[in-house]
Amino acid sequence: MIACRANLVLPCGSCGAKAELSIQAAGPLPSIHTNDLFWGLEEVRMFPVNTWYVAASANDIADKPLGRRICNQRMVFFRGADGKAAALEDFCPHRGAPLSLGFMRDGHLVCGYHGLAMGADGKCQSMPHQRVGGFPSIRRYPVVERYGFIWVWPGDETKADETLIPDFAWLESPDWAFGGGMYHIHCDYRLMIDNLMDLTHETYVHATSIGQPEIEEASPTTKMIDGQVVTSRLMENITPPPFWQAALQGAGLPDDGPCDRWQICRFTPPSHVMIEVGVALAGKGGYDAAPEHKVSSIVVDFITPETDTSMWYFWGMARNFKVNDAALTQTIREGQAKIFAEDLEMLESQQRNLLDYPERRLLSLNIDAGGVQARRILDRIIQEEQGARAAA
Ligand code: FES
Ligand SMILES: [Fe+2]
Repeated sequence: MIACRANLVLPCGSCGAKAELSIQAAGPLPSIHTNDLFWGLEEVRMFPVNTWYVAASANDIADKPLGRRICNQRMVFFRGADGKAAALEDFCPHRGAPLSLGFMRDGHLVCGYHGLAMGADGKCQSMPHQRVGGFPSIRRYPVVERYGFIWVWPGDETKADETLIPDFAWLESPDWAFGGGMYHIHCDYRLMIDNLMDLTHETYVHATSIGQPEIEEASPTTKMIDGQVVTSRLMENITPPPFWQAALQGAGLPDDGPCDRWQICRFTPPSHVMIEVGVALAGKGGYDAAPEHKVSSIVVDFITPETDTSMWYFWGMARNFKVNDAALTQTIREGQAKIFAEDLEMLESQQRNLLDYPERRLLSLNIDAGGVQARRILDRIIQEEQGARAAA
């Protein structure tokens, strides 16, 4: 009997990572087209790429380049000569140094290794005493500055469409005040979506600020509304927890009586979660109470995958009361930063466990319905993207 073996080293079509494949057979190997192998081995991507993600706060990009990995791709963000935000691959075409280690000069991004100057279009502009006009351009990523953030499209440039950025106009409206920040978290971005679509965890993870037993006693409902996953939880006649007592005080409302409380979580693909939260004096209509009887706001969450197991978390709170009170914005921001730091600790520990025990299957309860629906939508989008790529 003839024993045949073939060893193949194939690069991933997306990230370039090498996969080694060994095929062994008792007889002659069948003929296999390398394309079959390529598609057969293609990575199972964990996030859509033909979509807009928040890459940075608009203020993060001023006079220095910013290096940031998004969807496993190293990018460098900067402002070109016209002040417009731009993104290129973070790879100098000369010797491969990260361009983000360089600096800006006359609207060009200058590599910090030997001085190659790049334009916002990805073309090599100049290099001291060298001819670089023939250097190939490097990859440019579509970028839009909107709502105080820099949005990037990590996938196929020809499909980038600004109108696909959801409408968050209230983030820039003078009728709203916004304060927020960013955390770099070592976990799969979907764990954060699960977390935000199931606020039962507040009772345990945020016991001293927004948590209270009534949260787990009130069953959530999950529905699909206009392409969004919406998970709602309403609590009636409860004592407001410390965070909301402070908010009632801030709004000049009594903070020692019973309240009706709501949490309405809205997931929009790929990973935006807006949560309407608030309390109204009990019996005044709850969510629908007149403004003078309630305090409410929107928890803003933009979640951007960095790698398969890490993410950039842009968090914040937008409110439409006392919008000119900068001290209140700061107080809320500090409170939120502490609350989200508690999530960070839990999520990173959860991710470590999942990596240590990859064979373990997780269980879903009715409280997980929002996250489960969101993951289904993501799976469908990813499958469609990968199917279109295979067919191309
Ligand atoms: S590596 Fe960038 S100029 Fe040499
Ligand atoms: Fe939380």
